[in-house]
Amino acid sequence: MDKKVYVPDPSVSRKSHISSMKQYEDMYKHSIDNPEEFWGEIAKQFHWETEPSKFLSYNFDITKGPISIKWMEGATTNICYNLLDRNVKNGHGDKIAFYWEGNDPEDYSRLTYKKLLEEVCRFANVLKSKGVSKGDRVAIYMPMILEVVIAMLACSRIGAVHTIVFAGFSADSFAERMLDAKCKVLITTDGVWRGPKLICLKEICDAAMERCKNLGHEVKNCIIVEHLPRLSVSQNRNGTTKENGDTSPEKNKIPWTEGRDFWWHEEMEDASTSCYPVWVGAEDPLFMLYTSGSTGKPKGVLHTVAGYLLYAATTFKYVFDYRPGDVYWCTADVGWITGHTYVVYGPLANGATSVLFEGTPFYPGNSRYWEVVDKYRVNKFYTAPTALRALMKFGDGPVKKHSLSTLQVLGSVGEPINPEAWLWYYVVIGHEKCSIVDTYWQTETGGHLLTPLPGCTPMKPGSATFPFFGVVPVLLDENGKEIRGPGEGYLAFKRPWPGIMRTLFGNHERFETTYFKKFPGCYCTGDGARRDEDGYFWITGRVDDMLNVSGHLLSTAEVEATLSAHPNVAEAAVVSHGHPIKGECLYCFVTPNEGVKFSKELTDELKKKVREKIGPFATPEVIQHAPGLPKTRSGKIMRRILRKVAQNDRNIGDISTLADEGIIEVLFQNRIEIK
Ligand code: WT7
Repeated sequence: MDKKVYVPDPSVSRKSHISSMKQYEDMYKHSIDNPEEFWGEIAKQFHWETEPSKFLSYNFDITKGPISIKWMEGATTNICYNLLDRNVKNGHGDKIAFYWEGNDPEDYSRLTYKKLLEEVCRFANVLKSKGVSKGDRVAIYMPMILEVVIAMLACSRIGAVHTIVFAGFSADSFAERMLDAKCKVLITTDGVWRGPKLICLKEICDAAMERCKNLGHEVKNCIIVEHLPRLSVSQNRNGTTKENGDTSPEKNKIPWTEGRDFWWHEEMEDASTSCYPVWVGAEDPLFMLYTSGSTGKPKGVLHTVAGYLLYAATTFKYVFDYRPGDVYWCTADVGWITGHTYVVYGPLANGATSVLFEGTPFYPGNSRYWEVVDKYRVNKFYTAPTALRALMKFGDGPVKKHSLSTLQVLGSVGEPINPEAWLWYYVVIGHEKCSIVDTYWQTETGGHLLTPLPGCTPMKPGSATFPFFGVVPVLLDENGKEIRGPGEGYLAFKRPWPGIMRTLFGNHERFETTYFKKFPGCYCTGDGARRDEDGYFWITGRVDDMLNVSGHLLSTAEVEATLSAHPNVAEAAVVSHGHPIKGECLYCFVTPNEGVKFSKELTDELKKKVREKIGPFATPEVIQHAPGLPKTRSGKIMRRILRKVAQNDRNIGDISTLADEGIIEVLFQNRIEIK
């Protein structure tokens, strides 16, 4: 079934920005042959206070000197001006920028471009009154509410650098990031409801600020959005409660430090609705975002203004085939890069209307996503395979109750999408008429690198297909030799596209060694990939998730795909484990579907399946029952922890990004010794 190629319907292709592979290839060639002309043309739609002196200069080869990447150097601009003022001036002031949909379906609101601009200006003035100026770092620890967008853009309006930390990280991890970034001010909310659970964000912020202080860095001010009292769920606080019994008036009172803490609404009251934008350099920092490194300390990925704007705007337009009038919804949290580029910057740069969703796919029921799609008549929808797989477990029932007739493009991001999930997305959600865009990229890349284009690229389930404009992928072997034609190797990129990060904050050396040292002349992703006979790229997983069983190079992702293809399996994760004879072997964790018993029959069947699909050398050594898998809050399986379980090593290290700690003990209990 995964051999089938899904060709876009000609009626869809006709209406798409890029309607044929020929058109894609011509544009791609132009973007490679003449990047200055290609991106220069795109830059014309934006406002540049001063023009660039040089459009592109870079050194990608560490043997020739320090790595440097500069787009539109010499130009000055303001990204907030380009997202808001420019769209208002172009007559879109009354257009909806965001429909906000709260955790509780009874909570919703909307914001026009004009109103968003006013609010951003007011908050920019508030930040200035707290002493924030160009280059200062501002920490943001907030849920998916309109104020998070306002806070981000207020920073960019005055040239301050926002550093969002996903409001699910622990106080310690948050402190570590604020300390590294030396954040001057912190913006948060009193709390948030995540599904049926109340989380008191301000308490976590207080603990984080306290920790920073003890370690020698003081966060000067904290600005708090009063979010809870305005929610319908909290109206029940003093009386009857909804399904959650833990609502109490005390929850509403938050810890407070006089002189340091300020209410958002009180500060905003007298703030002016106009704020002249600070013109910043094209290569000035826009934001930083921490991403986990394979060795301990998180990396502060730094993105700059002009290149990021060009890349966010262009990928958004073509990858979602954006049209004026569309309603677009990306379910990612703004705490991740997907939220930065495809909830905020990309859509606003195009003057788009988006849904900003505070809730989860499972609250109040398992059809929440599809309710929201119908409610706002969403045309373009972007989510993660982990969410799809979780929803698939409940069958088609919760989907079938909804029309979903407005959907045109369905996006996937974050990990390889297994063909089963792809097909479910295509058939059950998209009614076999939507394009699926499996977008491969990273925090570091700023935007999509490999992706199909709607109405254009013939799709193969599980393949991220071809490079976006300006992007030159290569597959390299262990010695850095280029693999041409079909084959498998390290995925790297040969030259900079506008959205690539410029450095790791405060550590250019780590930036160079992590990404540019292994293969001089290339940006090394850390992922493996395969190119098939038709030139399609297939991500095979992180390179460190590769293993060698009796001399056969295997990717754990391949085995996982086979296991999760079994009708009784909900999810599977595979790690490498040392083996006295084979060198390494496969240790598999399997979560059966709801209501399915984990039995010897099942494990035998699974082993047989892998043997059949990949080869006898790939037969799993162990298949362990995993009622759940350890995941980051963004849904990534933490294989590092699974390796520790397999090794029976209780020294599991940093688990600050883990969503559910409880699962670890269960996994150790279920552990199977390798004979
Ligand atoms: C890593 C980057 C990109 C935003 C969200 C994650 C994996 C991402 C895909 C995809 C296969 C994918 C890669 C990559 N990944 N998208 N479509 N197919 N793998 O950002 O946390 O920086 O993670 O996610 O392994 O290196 P991130």
